[in-house]
Amino acid sequence: MSGRLAGKTAIVIGAGAIGPGWGNGKATAVLFAREGASVLCVDINPRAAEETCAIVAREGGTAAPFAADWTVSARVEAMAAECLARFGRIDVLHNNVGIVEVGGPVELDEARWDRLIDVNLKGMYLACRHVLPTMQRQGKGAIVNVSSLAAYRSPGYPCASYMASKAAVLGLTRSVALQYAAQGIRCNAILPGLLNTPMVHAALKDTYGPGGIEAMVATRDKVSPTGKMGDAWDVAYAALYLASDEAKYVNGAELAVDGGLSVKVA
Ligand SMILES: NC(=O)c1ccc[n+]([C@@H]2O[C@H](COP(=O)([O-])OP(=O)(O)OC[C@H]3O[C@@H](n4cnc5c(N)ncnc54)[C@H](O)[C@@H]3O)[C@@H](O)[C@H]2O)c1
Repeated sequence: MSGRLAGKTAIVIGAGAIGPGWGNGKATAVLFAREGASVLCVDINPRAAEETCAIVAREGGTAAPFAADWTVSARVEAMAAECLARFGRIDVLHNNVGIVEVGGPVELDEARWDRLIDVNLKGMYLACRHVLPTMQRQGKGAIVNVSSLAAYRSPGYPCASYMASKAAVLGLTRSVALQYAAQGIRCNAILPGLLNTPMVHAALKDTYGPGGIEAMVATRDKVSPTGKMGDAWDVAYAALYLASDEAKYVNGAELAVDGGLSVKVA
């Protein structure tokens, strides 16, 4: 621990994990706390948020859970108020929540399309909406939005709503980055490539053929230029940099965390 976020307060939304092991949000919340931040761990699943906080507590860090569906404006407003009441500031907003749906426009019915766009995009807008005024008052803040390489490139299976939502996250990131740059607020995006996380185990186990999780892992490892998928800590360390003052002149950036996949042509 080197105190790269010492004295700062961070909100991590999607701070739990969908299954056993390390998800991006869980690893990020734990790493932020290891680096000295007080972390509000927000999740729609209270038990997942509490589990992350328990890990932080065991390591001697500071974290508190907050249950919220970030597609509900009143809950997101309450989240920002809770962070201020408990910790007094909001230095970092880490917008990690995202779900994936396999299918194109014909396979995805309207309700599933709407829910994915709400979860992957509207929630991020609401988080910015309710946290930016505090960052403006402080004259400082860092927002990190988790997009995906799928904003630019197909992950190898149809996922129209996911690709559309992750591209939209980049538009939101650029807009916020420019509007608030002169007020000391930065907004950047992380674009994870192919990762081995509980999320893909849960959502994509049948997407790569009949071999289940093993086939999925083998196929995704093979596609990666490094021969292996990345993991949640790769995203967490990228988030740590963007959240910290080390990145004070980095704004509106799109940081691929993909082992080089985005520059591969064959
Ligand atoms: N794993 C990959 O290969 C990969 C690749 C590219 C991008 N990503 C992105 O990483 C992010 C997710 O990473 P993760 O590993 O933490 O996933 P995860 O699914 O393990 O954790 C996300 C957390 O968000 C919570 N959540 C879901 N809906 C919510 C809502 N409406 N309000 C509040 N919380 C909600 C879940 O309960 C869960 O605990 C997503 O944005 C995803 O698109 C992942």
